[in-house]
Amino acid sequence: MNDTYILGIETSCDETSVSIVKNGIDEIATVVLSQMDTHAKFGGVVPEIASRMHIESITIVLEECLKKAGMTMEQIDAIAVTYAPGLIGCLLVGVTFASTLSYIYNKPLVPVHHIIGHIYANNLKHRLEFPLISLVVSGGHTELVYMDKDYSFKKIGGTLDDAVGEAYDKVARVINVPYPGGPEVDRLAHIGKDIYELPLPLDDDTYNFSFSGLKSAVINLVHNEKQRGNEIRKEDLACSFQNRVVEILTKKTMKALKEYNVNNLIVAGGVSANKGLRERLTKECEKNNINISMPEIKYCTDNAAMIASAGYYAYKLGIISDIDLKARPTSSMY
Ligand code: KG4
Ligand code: ZN
Repeated sequence: MNDTYILGIETSCDETSVSIVKNGIDEIATVVLSQMDTHAKFGGVVPEIASRMHIESITIVLEECLKKAGMTMEQIDAIAVTYAPGLIGCLLVGVTFASTLSYIYNKPLVPVHHIIGHIYANNLKHRLEFPLISLVVSGGHTELVYMDKDYSFKKIGGTLDDAVGEAYDKVARVINVPYPGGPEVDRLAHIGKDIYELPLPLDDDTYNFSFSGLKSAVINLVHNEKQRGNEIRKEDLACSFQNRVVEILTKKTMKALKEYNVNNLIVAGGVSANKGLRERLTKECEKNNINISMPEIKYCTDNAAMIASAGYYAYKLGIISDIDLKARPTSSMY
């Protein structure tokens, strides 16, 4: 069998990334240019600035990736690009760039949903084993997904309001932790104690999640303590918040694995970098004889290697777009 080389392109938020992956599993080269330092000055991603920065760097990132791989565009079999969901101006840069390359080099154009990319980040370490359940935890998504084969996604449950990464970022702001908040709240949680009374959110029999109540409980607690003239212990509040989040994510994930009679769990999305979540899920999976896979930390947050990996399976299934592929700020993967 001939090897298949997919060029992946990811520009949905604040990372400009290009990668080449062989046969969906072997990463040949990846370049990720993060805009984090620029957006940190504003306390969050500024969409206009982000899309302009993608325009400025995308060609350089491609050149660097090809150089790193020691390859030319002629050796690429197909071009996979994130077309949704994300910031529209940012997606547009990646989609336009990918369509142009597809036209110039006469290569198939493969549209990839960003969350499917996050799921396939796990394929870069070990080939996915089916059936599996994926816990997707990112800045915009919190979902439990069932897969019995490649590119087949069934939603088991999801958040009714905020995504878990969004809740992390909002809590970070309230306790004056600089952007990006998630990793810093995670760090503080590990040196703090669980002393604050916070609710376990949506602790019911469904597979749905809700994080806005927990977020509001943190905001109210901070305001009330301030009014009383009490100082908030940041690390203890981070620890209490993180324990509730990890508790409910773990509880519902383990319940889904049991009820769907599935032995493989994969964790996906930016929040899969969370140390507390990784430790707790690993422990529970060991106890219950479940195979757990979590991406390497560098593949947890946005990167093009995961897009190229997902793109390989889409390409093999014939999911190929016309040259007029549209970028979409929202889109269902089901
Ligand atoms: O997947 P991602 O890079 O972007 C989206 O597709 O949304 O996820 C970004 C999110 C942010 O909300 C960030 O705060 C969160 O992932 N995050 C974390 C950690 N690392 C990143 N949240 C908690 N703990 C972490 N260690
Ligand atoms: Zn992402």
